[in-house]
Amino acid sequence: ARKIIIDTDPGQDDALALLLALASTELDVLGITAVAGNVPLALTEKNARKICELAGKPGTKVFAGAIRPLVRDLVTAEHVHGRTGLDGPELPEPEMPLQDGHAVDFIIDTLMAHGEGEITLCPLGPLTNIALALNREPRIATRIREIVLMGGGFFEGGNVTPTAEFNIYVDPHAADVVLRSGVPVVMMPLDVTHKALTTRARIAAIRALDTKVGAACAELLEFFERFDEEKYGTDGGPLHDPCVIAYLLKPELFTGRSCNVTVETGSELTMGMTVIDWWRVTDRPENALVMRDIDDDGFFTLLTERLARL
Ligand code: BDR
Ligand code: CA
Repeated sequence: ARKIIIDTDPGQDDALALLLALASTELDVLGITAVAGNVPLALTEKNARKICELAGKPGTKVFAGAIRPLVRDLVTAEHVHGRTGLDGPELPEPEMPLQDGHAVDFIIDTLMAHGEGEITLCPLGPLTNIALALNREPRIATRIREIVLMGGGFFEGGNVTPTAEFNIYVDPHAADVVLRSGVPVVMMPLDVTHKALTTRARIAAIRALDTKVGAACAELLEFFERFDEEKYGTDGGPLHDPCVIAYLLKPELFTGRSCNVTVETGSELTMGMTVIDWWRVTDRPENALVMRDIDDDGFFTLLTERLARL
């Protein structure tokens, strides 16, 4: 199975991504590292453990990481995810432990204990933990197989400012470190995730699984989609983070192109904008495979089929 570390700030869509990964035997989740993002760290690490228990995988290692971005103050998104970050279903307080040690040490130690190209990193929140690891131990760069992340946007614009997507906006300096690291990056921007909508029919299919996981997922998604439905008038909200895991399972669901991505860290107006050289009008080197389209029916079929296994 493909070895992965998931770095996350759950978040309802992060929760669905964790469940999709934990349900899939093609993936070996070496650990889950929590970061401050949608809500503060104390909640994201707890939420990650709640989801592991919901998945029936209480043996999964969960580590706490950075409590704040590298340079800027933390910005959170309770208006989207609710006060707990996982508003929607009533999930019990987790009994499984948080692992000792810092998430950044876990990332570094795990990569250094493996060979080159063995481990894939899957960031689903601000890139703070990943940047801290790359800064502290630059030798990990050549060990990482690739970084498949949810973040950014270009043709679609931003969702927290007119030009910035939340994960990149919260820690643009960390995103800059990742994109300059030389590690192969696959990016799932809003251009993709805004096409993965949790329509009524798709949520109904998940609820119809008639399992504890199916019911909890339907409640998570119903809470989560309210924000986007009200704001954009769509049927359902975008299911961002599971696109990362779906790419590992079925890359053919996505299409994009390799190009240069540079993050704005200087301008208050466009802070956190991902400047994607889609048309290759500069000679800046390609540093990311940027996805733009998704087979959304195929994606939801995969997700629903995997959730049924839990
Ligand atoms: C991203 O921001 C968070 O609110 C979601 O979990 C997702 O990772 C979308 O912009
Ligand atoms: Ca997230």
